[in-house]
Parts: sequence; structure tokens; C-alpha cells
Amino acid sequence: MRELGCDGVPKPFERVVRANIGDCHALGQKPITFIRQVQALAACPALASSAAVPEDVRQRAQEILDDCTKSSVGAYSPSAGLQVVRARVAQFLSARDGVRACADDIYLGSGASDVIKAVLTMFVQDVDGKPPAVMIPIPQYPLFSGTLAELGLRQAEYFLAEEQQWALDVDELQRCWSRASQDCAVRALVVINPGNPTGQVLTRENMEQIVKFAYEHNLFLLADEVYQENIVSKPFFSFKKVMHEMGAPYSSMELASFVTCSKGWAAECGQRAGFVELRAAAAAPAFRVARAVMQCPNVLGQCILDCVMQRPAPGDPSYPQFAQELSDIRQVLAERTQTAYETFNSIPGYFCNPIDGSMFAYPRVSIPEAAQAAARELHMSPDEFYCLRLLEETGVCVIPGTGFGQLPGTFHFRTTILHPRDEFQHMMDSIRRFHHDFLQRYS
Ligand SMILES: Cc1ncc(COP(=O)(O)O)c(C=O)c1O
Repeated sequence: MRELGCDGVPKPFERVVRANIGDCHALGQKPITFIRQVQALAACPALASSAAVPEDVRQRAQEILDDCTKSSVGAYSPSAGLQVVRARVAQFLSARDGVRACADDIYLGSGASDVIKAVLTMFVQDVDGKPPAVMIPIPQYPLFSGTLAELGLRQAEYFLAEEQQWALDVDELQRCWSRASQDCAVRALVVINPGNPTGQVLTRENMEQIVKFAYEHNLFLLADEVYQENIVSKPFFSFKKVMHEMGAPYSSMELASFVTCSKGWAAECGQRAGFVELRAAAAAPAFRVARAVMQCPNVLGQCILDCVMQRPAPGDPSYPQFAQELSDIRQVLAERTQTAYETFNSIPGYFCNPIDGSMFAYPRVSIPEAAQAAARELHMSPDEFYCLRLLEETGVCVIPGTGFGQLPGTFHFRTTILHPRDEFQHMMDSIRRFHHDFLQRYS
């Protein structure tokens, strides 16, 4: 059966392949059993009497309920989140970084988006009569540009260096800062690592350059580290760890780092849970008050975060099943990143950097001049035209680079890569065939 258009006319494909959103469960990833069991028990404590419930699940749900008012996840939690969960987050961060984290610096949110917006709100004030600006990468995850626009903050764009595996080039950072500083007060620098849409993991050397740059320009560093558990091969270093190990004066710089349950192996996007670790003594009291006005983040979401921060360990009843589920998820990521990288680089006119992590590929595509002219006639950018034709002709739905930003004159698209194997292969084949036909038509 063919897919029908709005006009009832059959499309030349059987189904739309949605590769436009980084939502693993929507692509068929199964939930982690331990997480869902803890949540189920927290929501309905009567289930704890079932013999089928593993002891570690029962214990975990009880620890969370003990911290809830009247043992109910239906009660508001403290606005920064349940103390038991924040303590677990602090333990996780301390073990990850080898630096002591403090539960008082942790603020849970309904997804990372919630706390990213809250942190950006701290910069909404003119400085010496100059409007505030925030430096963001191009390409970027549009939450940043959208939130800056909503808050009335100026956007200072720096381009990631595609030829250097999407690294941050210090000369480019300097260019961006100098230009923005002519009429703005540049307050903060956003870095997305691992990158969305670009999928790179920054090298430690590059991170140290960024930290020094931020220090020299008195910039508050916002580290979006939400894909830290979606990494295939390279080591992940948090900005906090790097700053700490660089020593004074960098170790005491202000920093906000973001983590979410929407990504990583939990990938529970719909349940809206995440946090910010905010290391900013001067700003913390006002931030705490601003968060209090919002009541609290979703308490069942906080249960997920608790499970992600302290996963089942060897010897726990839930461990064998958890370890199997985790390994399956990691295998899918490793396989798909490799296939996407190899496929895209084998298509004439495509270039794709190695994909270190996240769940996306962001290939660059050469679009023939005749196709660019056809796009102009339709008042579209060439990459929008390309992606629309791809959708119309194959059913593969990806996002044009225009949605994330790209160096003028270059064209990209972002695709998610975590589909089931057959669907993914179908998508790769469709893109290859489409591009071949597209070139024939427009060259
Ligand atoms: C880089 C980046 N930051 C933040 C978010 C927001 O995630 P959440 O679902 O936790 O709001 C996303 C979501 O895709 C993302 O890709």
C-alpha cells in the first residue's frame, strides 16, 4: 500500500521514514525494564507486594517514596528536586569527574530544555547600557536560538570548523566575540559536546582552549553535555573535569552543565527529566528563587533520573537484564554510526565527518547549480529544496541544514540514525538512489 498525500494521490513510497527527531523510543528502542519497574512501584506502591518485583527495584522505589511528602509522587517535591535524587546526581558527577560535586548545585528540571532556558534567563540584563549577547555554535540545536529570541538576548554566532571534525576554532571564537562586542555585552558561551547536529566529541586539548578563551573574555560557560552517554569510541570529558584539572584560575570559573534523561541509554524523552549543575556562587540565590516560582519538575521523571544516576550494579537482581538491555542499545549506536559514516562518504558529492556520538549524522551535500536555481524560484534554500524532494520521492524525512545553521554556500541535512536495522538500510539505500537521480536531473 502506498502512502497517500493530502490530495489523496498516492506517493511513490509505502511509508514515511521519520529521521527528523532525536527520539529513540519513537524509533523503536525499548524502555529499560529497571527504570519502568521503579517508576511503576513509585506510582503505585501496592504493586510492591508482587513476588515478580525484584528486591532492588522495591528498595529503590521505597527510597524515593521515603523522600516524597506523605510517600506520594503526586505531592510537589522541593523546587530543585527530591533531595535523594540530587544526592544521587552529586554522587554520579563526583565519580565521573573525580571532583566532589555538591547536591546544592544541582537543580532538576522537566527536561534539559527547562533548565537551559532558566539559566539563559540569568543573562537578560543590559550591561553598561549594552544589550546582552550569548555566543552559540553554528550549526546548533535550535533550542538555543529559539530561547535567545524569546528572551530578547542577542545571538552571537560562531561557526564550528567542519574541516577539523567540527572543532571550535579559537580564531573563530575571537572573531565572533570581537564583532558582537562592538555593540553588545557578550555574557556567555554555549558549547554543545557531544554535538547536535554534528555528532563530534571535542578533544581535551580543544576543551582547554575553549576554557581559556572563556576565562580571558569573562564568559559564563554553558556546557550542553546531554549526549555524554551516546558516545561510540572517544572518551568523554566534562567541562567541569577539564576546568578542575587545569587548576587555578580556571577551576573556579562559573559553569552550567546540562544532562537529560531524554538521551543516553534511558532515552525517556516523553517523561521530561534532566538537570543543571550550576557552579555560580553569585548567581545561585536568584536562580534558586526563580526556580521556586515554577513549583517542581515532574516527580516520576525524577525517578528516572535516580535510576540513570545509579544503575543496577553486578550482584543486584536487576543487573543481568539491565546489562543485556544496555549492551543492545550500545550495539545499535555503534553499528548505525559506522554505517551512516561509510554510506554517506561513499555517495559522490557527499562528505561526512566521523560520527563520535549523539544520534545524528550531518552530511554535507553538493547541490548542482541548476537545482539551486530551481530552489530560488520556489523561494527555498537549496538544502530545503533537496530535503523536500527527498521526502516527496522516497518518504525519507530529514531536516535541512538551514534549521541548524551552516556556513553560507554549504548545504547539509541532519538525519537520526537509530532506526531498526532494516529500516535504516532502506533509508540509506533510498538516499543513495535519490541523490543519483537528483544529480542526473540537475547536472
Ligand atoms: C543538544 C540538546 N540539548 C538539549 C536538548 C533538550 O532535551 P530535553 O528533552 O531534555 O529537553 C536536546 C534535545 O534534543 C538536545 O539535542
